[in-house]
Amino acid sequence: MKGIVLAGGNGTRLLPLTLVGSKHLAPVYDKPMVYYPLSVLMLAGINDVLIVTRPAEIELFRRLFGSGSRLGMRIGYAAQAEPRGIADAFRVGADHIRGEDCALVLGDNLFHGAELPALLRSTTQGLRGCVLFGHQVADPRRFGVAEVDARGRLLSVEEKPEHPRSHLAIPGLYFFDDTVTDIARGLHPSARGELEITDVLRAYLMAGRAHLVRLGSGVTWLDAGTHESLLAAGRFVRDVQHHQGTRLGCVEEVALRMGFINADACYELGAEMSDSPYGQYLMASARAHRLSRTPATSPEE
Ligand code: TTP
Repeated sequence: MKGIVLAGGNGTRLLPLTLVGSKHLAPVYDKPMVYYPLSVLMLAGINDVLIVTRPAEIELFRRLFGSGSRLGMRIGYAAQAEPRGIADAFRVGADHIRGEDCALVLGDNLFHGAELPALLRSTTQGLRGCVLFGHQVADPRRFGVAEVDARGRLLSVEEKPEHPRSHLAIPGLYFFDDTVTDIARGLHPSARGELEITDVLRAYLMAGRAHLVRLGSGVTWLDAGTHESLLAAGRFVRDVQHHQGTRLGCVEEVALRMGFINADACYELGAEMSDSPYGQYLMASARAHRLSRTPATSPEE
């Protein structure tokens, strides 16, 4: 399965922070925002990812992740000349997807929770059609909104409705089978001039091939597209990390955990940043991983 991180857009709500830079490189506590959505794709087992950015920022992302090889991945880059909408990802990324299943994550979305790895695993295994998620929110009007029947089956999807039919917001993480590029090719811009992801989801729904999975209380979903939510996301990350002694969105550690790299490679990545708590954490994670893999010696040996 291929992955796309959509990290373009205008970021107008974050001005002036985004005057000369991408919000996706802004810090969410101790790491760039883009680490969080990228780590979600990695947790889904995806090691071939395209990062879609504004043309002016493509080199910055390349400096951050290079070819991806240090994370045991393939990371490519593509420019989206104009923010033509979320579904434009499948046009810009058509060569990258090339007939495979594909996961799309929005570059300003953060997910965290003990249930997340298992949920991602079960979603990618035997994917048929598309999978979107539903998350209960108080005010869904600024999101895509899903309507489901009593048995949880998807009935409708609407983009930023004035009168939402439910409180189920659709987070910026979606899984599609290989027909997504054909569907995206046939889309027309909406009244607000964008290629809408909800139109892609609706095409799958019409064909009876869209499946909604509810994100329960075991998964936290945040987006960091406003000054308030950016600060709230940073606070959330700091609090969870301090309480649990772990790191969220730590791409090097996820690469280790997913078997993309080994403990030595992870240790080396940490050693390069050993002055920072982040680097020290990576080195400690690598050491712990190594120990967990060392077979215990029995007394007779
Ligand atoms: P939005 O939050 O809808 O848009 P934005 O990031 O441009 O912000 P603002 O509304 O403040 O102007 O986008 C959600 C995510 O999708 C965000 O990470 C940017 C990305 N995106 C693109 O990369 N290309 C696009 O054409 C659009 C619409 C969004």
